[in-house]
Amino acid sequence: MKSGILKNKIIEIFKKFGVNKAHATISANALINAELVGAYGHGLARLKMYCDRISKKVINPRPKIKIKKISSSISHIDANNSIGFVAADIGIKTAIKHAQKTGIGMVAVKNSGHYGLSGYYAEQAVKKNLITMIYTNAPPAVAPHGALKSLFGTNPICFGTPTGSKIPFILDTSISMINRGKIRVAARKNLKIPKGVALDKYGNPTTDAKKALEGVQLPIAGFRGSGLAWMVDILSGVLTGGNHGGKVKDPFDDFSGPQNIGHLFITFKANLFQKNYNQRIKENIKTIKKLPKIKGVKEIMYPGQNKYKRFKENSKRDINISEIIKKDLEILNS
Ligand SMILES: NC(=O)c1ccc[n+]([C@@H]2O[C@H](COP(=O)([O-])OP(=O)(O)OC[C@H]3O[C@@H](n4cnc5c(N)ncnc54)[C@H](O)[C@@H]3O)[C@@H](O)[C@H]2O)c1
Repeated sequence: MKSGILKNKIIEIFKKFGVNKAHATISANALINAELVGAYGHGLARLKMYCDRISKKVINPRPKIKIKKISSSISHIDANNSIGFVAADIGIKTAIKHAQKTGIGMVAVKNSGHYGLSGYYAEQAVKKNLITMIYTNAPPAVAPHGALKSLFGTNPICFGTPTGSKIPFILDTSISMINRGKIRVAARKNLKIPKGVALDKYGNPTTDAKKALEGVQLPIAGFRGSGLAWMVDILSGVLTGGNHGGKVKDPFDDFSGPQNIGHLFITFKANLFQKNYNQRIKENIKTIKKLPKIKGVKEIMYPGQNKYKRFKENSKRDINISEIIKKDLEILNS
């Protein structure tokens, strides 16, 4: 389906669930972007979940979002349980405005929900020649190092910078060995998952996706990844007033209340300390790209390059809609 047609369909669905047109458009844009960059686990596959959460009154379709200005660089947003896309859109735009005025912007958001891809918001800042760091927490999926219980989310860490070229550098990585979405898909299709990404509920390594879902996911790089996940939980949960310490509810399975996810958006001018930042980063990337390559590697890529390429390619094509999603769209439209 053409992305424009699909976007209008999504807007109409959100409006049907009581979301106003502006918020429905922000949400539809984020979902379409996820499809176009190939992050299918954060795209249309989640549309029904958002609508179910609105129906069950754990996402507020008409939030009264409060922005408290703490200083000319710092704001604190209470998103009033809005859909996460809307809270994050206001969060990054406020952080950008602060940075453009004062050099640096810092915005904490509480009472939000799942906002999709951190990189989507990072791109907005980078387009304005700002460097950005973005954090959000997520429902329990990953066991802290040494624990036999999931507590951390897949808590993505995101860093974006202009590169002096049209392709931004955006490192946007979850801290789990594998996405939970991929395990869910493998479980549905009875496929195995790779070794070393999850333990079963008894703490034994498993490649059985269903057992992995009952057990725990492993963080990247052992205790180092566990530490990074913890850092994200502190920055986006403890600091902001959002839920933390394993209290963020699973959006698919737990309708007992709002998620109260927290986000943190930090933005600053790239040329704060060196006027010729863009030239310096160009040189930096060039040096690294020129390194001798290991066998089979055609190009040393920087983070974000692959997504940019996928976006360009997918934008030329129709968006592929699976039978499951088709059914979701029919149900949500009826
Ligand atoms: N909102 C949430 O709760 C939540 C939770 C987890 C993940 N996410 C999102 O899911 C998305 C996917 O996360 P992920 O961890 O699966 O990402 P990923 O593993 O696909 O990529 C991680 C990073 O590595 C870079 N990369 C990939 N291949 C590369 C290569 N060959 N050379 C150099 N760099 C390369 C990517 O550009 C990216 O910046 C992210 O956008 C993240 O924000 C959201």
